[in-house]
Amino acid sequence: MIEARREALLAWYDRHRRTLPWRDAADPYAVLVSEIMAQQTQISRVVPHFERFVERFPTVEALAAASLRSVLAAWSGLGYNRRARYLQEAARHIVEHGWPDPAALQTLPGVGPYTAAAVASIAFGEPVAAVDTNARRVLSRWAGEELDGRALQDVAASELPPSRAADWNQAIMDLGAGLCRPRPECGRCPVEPWCSDPSVYSPPGSQSAFDGSIRQARGAVLRTLLDRGSAPVAGLSGLGIEPARLQTALESLHADGLIEQSGEAWAVRD
Ligand code: ADE
Repeated sequence: MIEARREALLAWYDRHRRTLPWRDAADPYAVLVSEIMAQQTQISRVVPHFERFVERFPTVEALAAASLRSVLAAWSGLGYNRRARYLQEAARHIVEHGWPDPAALQTLPGVGPYTAAAVASIAFGEPVAAVDTNARRVLSRWAGEELDGRALQDVAASELPPSRAADWNQAIMDLGAGLCRPRPECGRCPVEPWCSDPSVYSPPGSQSAFDGSIRQARGAVLRTLLDRGSAPVAGLSGLGIEPARLQTALESLHADGLIEQSGEAWAVRD
């Protein structure tokens, strides 16, 4: 840990942090929603969806009581729709049992190590480091070598100022999203004097092509079923998805618990 770097980054964050609707809300529910949405989705795209979603479901109780159909409708446009179901299951768990201990957030559906650490620090002030691909890039450049696994977690933990964990994690997120990008803007970086090697970077596995994918087919099928209520397979043929891909999309939406079959027709689960 380098104290001067820490102070410089926190001072930069205090002045330049992005205004995001869940920051300073002190509402664990809002933080959980934002973090589930931010998985696989850029923050700039998350913000308008987040605002609409929490207007529609302002509390964990409102989300828990809603129909899956209405949750999926509110999620639409964000993609990776199984996240919406996980989020609702998490809300139901929380309404029934209360919030898990911050160290046990990973027991909630859809919450992996990164999301658990982000929620624990941002919503509950726990001194834990949230390490996503942006943080990995930032910390690796500070260290001057590609960090991974245990070494990455250890470095992240040693850099974390325990009394400002939420700000620290989000400062690194903002730095990684704004300046310490794959092509870094070191001239504007507040911690450039303490960076070992800004050229350190190996691209993470990129998202696979969307056009022609099962993911695209899943989105089209789900949108249609939300619009129409239900449809037989033949009624989905107008979507222009070839039959094998349509079948795979239906099966995977079904396996994720998002749609169900009654007779010949498919419908979004209630
Ligand atoms: N990415 C995921 N969560 C974030 C947050 N709270 N602030 C900025 N970027 C994020």
